[in-house]
Amino acid sequence: MPHDTQALNRTRQCFAGLDSVWVFGYGSLIFKADFPYIERRPARIDHWQRRFWQGSHDHRGTPEAPGRVLTLVEVPGSSCKGMAYRVHPDVFAHLDHREKNGYLRFETAFHFDDGSEVNGLVYIANSDNAAWLGPAPESDIAEHIANSRGPSGPNDEYVLRLAQALRELDETDAHVFAIEAYLHLLAAQTDED
Ligand code: SIN
Repeated sequence: MPHDTQALNRTRQCFAGLDSVWVFGYGSLIFKADFPYIERRPARIDHWQRRFWQGSHDHRGTPEAPGRVLTLVEVPGSSCKGMAYRVHPDVFAHLDHREKNGYLRFETAFHFDDGSEVNGLVYIANSDNAAWLGPAPESDIAEHIANSRGPSGPNDEYVLRLAQALRELDETDAHVFAIEAYLHLLAAQTDED
């Protein structure tokens, strides 16, 4: 798969005739909505979990020193709470550019708190993309994140803002919260030095 997934994403779904499309955010799309949306609602998708297994060459790191950002991995029986946005199809030009470093759009069902359901799109980076970093111990992931930064800012800001946004959504994510705790520990150690 190429480094830049924009052209591939344009071929994946056809938006002709649609006034709006739902897109699910589970990472930075929760805390940084830098695009116009018609409405947004907390939602969950089933059988997916967050993991800091994707490299970031363009936001929280560089091609020479990639940061670590989220993707989703399939875990049957699990669920992932995030934010669903209903957007005009034109907004996908911006979203495809923002998520171009390895993410592809997939269609899935979104479940809202009131029991209703819609189909929408979610950006997922699979292990066959060029920026994939894969699993590592959470303490190592935290150390990597503590030492990375890119054009969108320091990598640890991604984790800290996301953890805060997840608490506001009443979502407990053991992986994200463990890495956040390691980051606090590392910052305390740096302060002591
Ligand atoms: C998302 O937030 O839904 C995708 C991953 C990211 O941009 O952090």
